[in-house]
Amino acid sequence: MTPDPLPEEFAVSMRLAKERLGIFGHRVLWYSEVGSTNDIAGTFAEKGADEGLVVLADRQTAGRGRLGRSWASPSGAGIYVSVVLRPTPAGARLVTIAAGVAVTEGIASATGLSTHVKWPNDVHVSGRKLAGILAEGAVNHVVLGIGINVQPAAYPPDVASRATSIEAELSRPVDRAPVLAECLAALASRYRELHEDRPAGIVEAWRMRAAPMLGRRVEWESAGERHTGLAENIDDDGALIVKVGDGTLRIRSGEVRWL
Ligand code: BTN
Repeated sequence: MTPDPLPEEFAVSMRLAKERLGIFGHRVLWYSEVGSTNDIAGTFAEKGADEGLVVLADRQTAGRGRLGRSWASPSGAGIYVSVVLRPTPAGARLVTIAAGVAVTEGIASATGLSTHVKWPNDVHVSGRKLAGILAEGAVNHVVLGIGINVQPAAYPPDVASRATSIEAELSRPVDRAPVLAECLAALASRYRELHEDRPAGIVEAWRMRAAPMLGRRVEWESAGERHTGLAENIDDDGALIVKVGDGTLRIRSGEVRWL
């Protein structure tokens, strides 16, 4: 698929942030319309693309969310971006935690809006989801897909009680380009920490941003049975620590429902 020219507003924001974009400052591909940016980035990754490749779309026709869900991606209303990463095995365990932190940092730095992270890597404001992250890994790469609701039109009206957008929270129009550039700059910085085997700052930042979610009851399924517990923390590998009765349990992946 041939990319389209990067719109001027994105080119300007990326140029302004160039010094801070690190590996994400070298190759940015823009598509007016794709199925899923994760698929495009995955194809490039399999063909040997360098890590740091950024694939952006104005609109996705088959945007994917976690756990087989779809991700609504109407034109111009959200940020739909995927990046190719080649983390170390240790770094791979924390890459989605790092991305959740980076998205909250990027949104705050571009717009002033303060958001929270909800394990494993949803970005929330006042109990409503504003952004999501889908990491898809293969043998020697991870495609990290990030979807951010910028305008309320980014999500279908039937999820309006569970979703929100940057514009709805700030009650003003917001340009997508600086939000994207700041999120990528924050991700470059957090990813560098992972590469240099300095994960402590990421885990600490995650815990701070997750504070309103911790201490809440969660529910999950395992071996066909439903369990509940109290979400306490994440450990240094990014697993969710849940208090169940007198003991604690580590949940490494999958879905927990916050009650
Ligand atoms: C989630 O379910 O919370 C994850 C949503 C991830 C959506 C993004 S949009 C860009 C990239 N391409 C996709 O198809 N999905 C991710």
